[in-house]
Amino acid sequence: MLALEDLKVHFDVSRRRRERLVVKAVDGVTLRLRKGEAFGLVGESGSGKSTIGKAALHLVPITGGRLVIAGEDLTRLDRAAEKKLRRTAQMIFQDPHSALNPRMTIMRSVAEPLVLHTAIRGAALTSRVAELLEIVGLSRQFLYRYPHELSGGQKQRVCIARAIALEPALLILDEPTSALDVSVQSQILEFLKKLQADLGLTYLFISHNLAVVRYLCRRVAVMYLGVIVEEGETEAVFENPRHPYTQALLKAVPYPQAVQPDRGPPLQGDIPSPVDLPPGCRFHQRCPAAIPGVCDIVVPPEVRSGDTMVRCHLFTAADPGH
Ligand SMILES: Nc1ncnc2c1ncn2[C@@H]1O[C@H](COP(=O)(O)OP(=O)(O)OP(=O)(O)O)[C@@H](O)[C@H]1O
Ligand code: SF4
Ligand SMILES: [Mg+2]
Repeated sequence: MLALEDLKVHFDVSRRRRERLVVKAVDGVTLRLRKGEAFGLVGESGSGKSTIGKAALHLVPITGGRLVIAGEDLTRLDRAAEKKLRRTAQMIFQDPHSALNPRMTIMRSVAEPLVLHTAIRGAALTSRVAELLEIVGLSRQFLYRYPHELSGGQKQRVCIARAIALEPALLILDEPTSALDVSVQSQILEFLKKLQADLGLTYLFISHNLAVVRYLCRRVAVMYLGVIVEEGETEAVFENPRHPYTQALLKAVPYPQAVQPDRGPPLQGDIPSPVDLPPGCRFHQRCPAAIPGVCDIVVPPEVRSGDTMVRCHLFTAADPGH
């Protein structure tokens, strides 16, 4: 459904300085999502998760690599690719408050993509919008209300209704519940899980909340400073994390069941700047298992086996440290 091949998104932030400054937000990411699966993407703030989601919809320019959606190469955004993309993939953002135009009724907001991309008008349009609201658990009474009359959870449901209006096959959900009250977060998650099953949707679910990803996603990728460091079945990754970064990330989770006594220290220090990337393994300055003379010099290769991937010298075939 979605394939990213060696995807790169670099932002030039030099401005008027003499030297060239480039933020390598996404720096060679390969991901493949099967049709109908929920795939989680986790990592610390600034690791490049949102940039991947936006690049898949061409909301940021792609610097390198390939983007394939539903079997079609959409790396270059010409007219045909754009049309295909708008109908196949949609994104749901973190903040439903700013995602809706405060001066537009819910009817107009949800109808907008239908008006832009289909010939549905008049009574048929109203009933289609009412039907979409019903799918997300809102009654017809909401049709002529304005965003300020809705709660955060209701607004996020409206955003979801609008995102599924054109019956996309792929939804990119970027922290869809983190701006909501804790009490409604689980309702929305439960609803998203049901929606995915009912409509056979493919999800790229972006979150820094590991528990949420565990609840919703069958597979997960862990991102650090622009690269994927580990990938696999969610349960396997959570039960037996291999990459030292994944281990540290799990250790940092404030849920007692995720903390294992033998997993080394939690994350230390700050994530380095993506403008000035560390040499060798990007995690070496913070890694408790770093091999001196290797991890600070040699970039660890991806080691793939079936559905799993780990990018760490501890798992390279010719174990350099021992
Ligand atoms: N338009 C942009 N111009 C310059 N730098 C950017 C731009 N968008 C993102 N970045 C930088 O790219 C890096 C990755 O950002 P991104 O928003 O993808 O991270 P994230 O993993 O989604 O983080 P968070 O969990 O905080 O949402 C950050 O260092 C960010 O500052
Ligand atoms: S490659 Fe080295 S520094 Fe990087 S995670 Fe593995 S052990 Fe740690
Ligand atoms: Mg983000």
